[in-house]
Amino acid sequence: MKIAILSDIHEGLNRKKTETDILSLLRDSLIQHAPDVFIMCGDMAGGPEKSLDLLNRLQSELPKVKVLFVHGNHDIYHEDSTVAYDTLLEFQGNLGRGPVELNDEWVVIGDGGWYDYSLGVSGFTEEEFELGRCSNFTWPDKLHAHWPEKDKAVTDKYVTKLEQWLIEHQEKKIILVNHFVPFDHFIQIKNEPTWDFFNAMMGSSRFGELAEKYGVKKLVFGHTHSRYHEEYKGIECICNPLGHYPNEWVLDSPKEEIHTAMKIIEI
Ligand SMILES: [Fe+2]
Ligand SMILES: [Fe+2]
Repeated sequence: MKIAILSDIHEGLNRKKTETDILSLLRDSLIQHAPDVFIMCGDMAGGPEKSLDLLNRLQSELPKVKVLFVHGNHDIYHEDSTVAYDTLLEFQGNLGRGPVELNDEWVVIGDGGWYDYSLGVSGFTEEEFELGRCSNFTWPDKLHAHWPEKDKAVTDKYVTKLEQWLIEHQEKKIILVNHFVPFDHFIQIKNEPTWDFFNAMMGSSRFGELAEKYGVKKLVFGHTHSRYHEEYKGIECICNPLGHYPNEWVLDSPKEEIHTAMKIIEI
């Protein structure tokens, strides 16, 4: 079985900056790669309606590909992010609806996730991270995502939900998917306070702990716009974002970048 993986497509931003129909290029690349499953792990677009529309279009144009999705931080930009979360659950392939068994052996378990500052550097207080402001820059989620609870409580809800599903599927080989970084191994410390401060919003070590505790075989995430594919702590870790044009792209051509960025694995 062939699985394609890509995250952080940021359709609106990349469409405007490249003046290209990003969704069509994504569809064409998936037609060429011809995977059985496509895992899109967050940051499809800004706001739930746009993301839902794009996901539904992609799935209807690719009837042979099972499109699986977890939300990123940008997908739930809304005055009430719980409403945004529920809107996105309308998409059939949203892993927040429940685990998806690929065959007798493999199951995909996932949900969007959030961050709890556990990957942050020392030297800042919890209150500073909660405010999310450093050197006159405010973390965009603080302006555009609105959860009823604090970040740590939001993360806790995801961990609890995912752990239950992991317990229920221990007899299977598990692919765990979430949008956020699960290990500090994948965090870049630049010794620049403004960069390092925002590492607190990159993810949660609790997702990595879950993966280790429940013997997850493959761990798929995004959010950090750096690509990784390596074995870490005995887990195949895949972070495969498209990222923002032009700074984070390898190639100038949107068609070539999307097609070559697409990670294909076999199970
Ligand atoms: Fe992103
Ligand atoms: Fe993100």
